[in-house]
Amino acid sequence: MEERVGPARERAKEKFFEKNGFSPSLVARSPGRVNLIGEHTDYNDGFVLPIALSFDTAIAAAPVEGSKVSVFSEGFGEITFDLNDDPTNTLGWGRYLHGVGAFLHSSGKPAAGWIGCIATDIPTGANLASSAALEVASGLVFSSVSDLEIDLVQLAQCGQYVENQILGLPSGIMDQMTCALAESNSALLIDCRDLSTQTIKIPENVTVVVMDTGTRRELVGTGYADRRLVCERAADVLGVHSLREATLEDLEQLKTSDTQMIKRAQHVISENKRTELAVAALRSNNPEELGRLMTESHMSLQSDFEVSSPALDQIVQIALKSRGCFGARMTGGGFAGCAIALVESIAIDEFCHNVLESFTAPKSQPAESPTKVFPVRASAGASLIQ
Ligand code: GLA
Repeated sequence: MEERVGPARERAKEKFFEKNGFSPSLVARSPGRVNLIGEHTDYNDGFVLPIALSFDTAIAAAPVEGSKVSVFSEGFGEITFDLNDDPTNTLGWGRYLHGVGAFLHSSGKPAAGWIGCIATDIPTGANLASSAALEVASGLVFSSVSDLEIDLVQLAQCGQYVENQILGLPSGIMDQMTCALAESNSALLIDCRDLSTQTIKIPENVTVVVMDTGTRRELVGTGYADRRLVCERAADVLGVHSLREATLEDLEQLKTSDTQMIKRAQHVISENKRTELAVAALRSNNPEELGRLMTESHMSLQSDFEVSSPALDQIVQIALKSRGCFGARMTGGGFAGCAIALVESIAIDEFCHNVLESFTAPKSQPAESPTKVFPVRASAGASLIQ
């Protein structure tokens, strides 16, 4: 593979120039995300508390006449599609872009063609929202080349539409909202019932560390869709619109249902509570409490929601035994990829070194990429930078 020099936005610009002989007229970028707490709650109308990462997917682009989009992506090759065609006919990663264009088209906003180059620093299949970043960045390109008025929440909804309708994954809206709306140095509290947001400053004495196990997965084909279905069935049985409206006492009413449904509902209801408590802990600069809630969240995802994995459990255990760690948990959809830890800022170097030295992916879930352990700064959401 070609050596990657500089951040994604620079590489995208350089590639564009190399391929076309002129500079791009715009560069759109979107970060990935990690979720501090509030997992598998977004599609239950609940609370989530993510941060955006400091690395991006970037698209350097220029408008062209007509309805064709031609894009080269570093490491993934070239695709061309016509916006008048059905996006499900476009294969692979191009389907995300085509889906975004088709959504804008179908909502009465005629999208124009463009040429572009993509580069990314967000690994795919690692639970860092690489697909949401691609959707949001391409939404910015489409809206810019087509001169469309589209706000950041609509941009996020467009990305979720693509996941749900074009890719067939019934995901919630946390990833796209975070990619679009996050702010630097802050976590973003999203109420997924009405999509209202609040930013909550992350105190300087704590640092979020990403622990990439190197294991990978795509959420399509995992138990994700099944989890959502079971949650919706539980809400139906309880006679509420979503599990957001249910309490732990309500679980009594599920007693005659299968135990699996009770466990899934128990996770969602308790996770919403934990997320509210985590916001209070962040606000009062109480890292011990925030860390405790994060670890409790992991246990609930492991035992009740059953979306963790051997590699994620193992790296979380190593983190919890390391000096300076307030709490640790899997992040995102689960099944593979990354976990996070909340670490005392002065202990960061030792913590990262210790986790990296101590972790090897288990035989039952071998790694596809090298293990990486690195601190992250909460960063700003997507933007046009040119
Ligand atoms: C994935 C989905 C999100 C959310 C998380 C779990 O990242 O895209 O909508 O459901 O899983 O919290």
